[in-house]
Amino acid sequence: MKKRILSGLQPTGQLHLGNYAGAIRQFVDMQGEYEIFVFVASYHALTSTRDPEALRENIQQVVIDYLAFGLDPKQANIYLQHDVPQVTELAWLLSCVCPKHMMDKATSYKDKTAKGLAASIGLYTYPILQAADILSVDPDLVPVGEDQIQHIEITRDIAQKFNHQYGEVFKVPAHRVRTDAGVLPGIDGEKMSKSYGNTIDPFLPEKKLRKLINKIVTDSTPMEDAKNPDTCTVYKIFKALAGVEDQRTIDLAARYRGSGMGYGEAKKSLAELVLDHFGPARQKREQLIADPGYVQKILADGAAAAREKVSDVTSRARKAVGL
Ligand code: ADP
Ligand code: TRP
Repeated sequence: MKKRILSGLQPTGQLHLGNYAGAIRQFVDMQGEYEIFVFVASYHALTSTRDPEALRENIQQVVIDYLAFGLDPKQANIYLQHDVPQVTELAWLLSCVCPKHMMDKATSYKDKTAKGLAASIGLYTYPILQAADILSVDPDLVPVGEDQIQHIEITRDIAQKFNHQYGEVFKVPAHRVRTDAGVLPGIDGEKMSKSYGNTIDPFLPEKKLRKLINKIVTDSTPMEDAKNPDTCTVYKIFKALAGVEDQRTIDLAARYRGSGMGYGEAKKSLAELVLDHFGPARQKREQLIADPGYVQKILADGAAAAREKVSDVTSRARKAVGL
């Protein structure tokens, strides 16, 4: 039997190269070998979004981007979190065994409130809802970017606590991180993130995309001097996309180390790579935008498959606690 994976992204704004390199690419690469559940974390987004219209648009857009990036609905169950409301019931059952100190330790609450997000109870217990998402489909693996590892560890701790109390109800999953991706820097060299306004959206029109890539901050090493690729944001993004062993990456590193390559040239190579790598995705996205009926159908099928699995797990948990 195939192993199962589950993952999700919050619909909080336009997806970017960091989301692709750290998370989505893994889901796409794991198709075929694994049974896949990928969802849009719409309930989670309520911890940071209070604009209903923007939320609706962002949800739609994440689904379209998943499909454009290469998730195949024949191989992956794609659904919206709020189409499977049993997940919130499970979150309650988990919250009753989750010690408060486990939430106090979670770094994302501290980081997000420090950045100005409202300190709501929803934000505080965000990791419990995430644990419910995960445990609700009995996955073996949870592919995510590095910054989510703590959430998967919390999920494991909560599952073990529950199992210890009530018997083996939940499968305890592991995280999976693409080791060669690391944390992708944004155009200012900091972590690429929607909340820092430093992202590169691979679906931008070509001219805008080239202009944005030209804005990537580099140091002031003169054109004729040799440069260190490993400290340069342009090279880091190139390497994450093409792969460290790709001949184009090896050639670019050699050009850095030689003399006479300006950063403008490296940026041009990166723009070509992005356009080439995402060529099919860019085309597919246009088609998807033009066919909302198709997208709705995929979501309905995905939700039906998820509900079936989640109902099983939820009844197991209800029974175990005495309901
Ligand atoms: P953002 O920081 O832009 O709001 P999210 O927190 O919604 O991104 O992250 C969604 C997924 O994408 C997570 O699995 C996360 O680890 C991954 N991810 C986000 N930014 C990066 C990055 N710069 N490099 C690698 N992975 C990332
Ligand atoms: N917290 C994740 C993020 O910010 C989104 C998420 C919610 C998630 N539930 C999940 C990721 C379950 C993996 C599994 O990206």
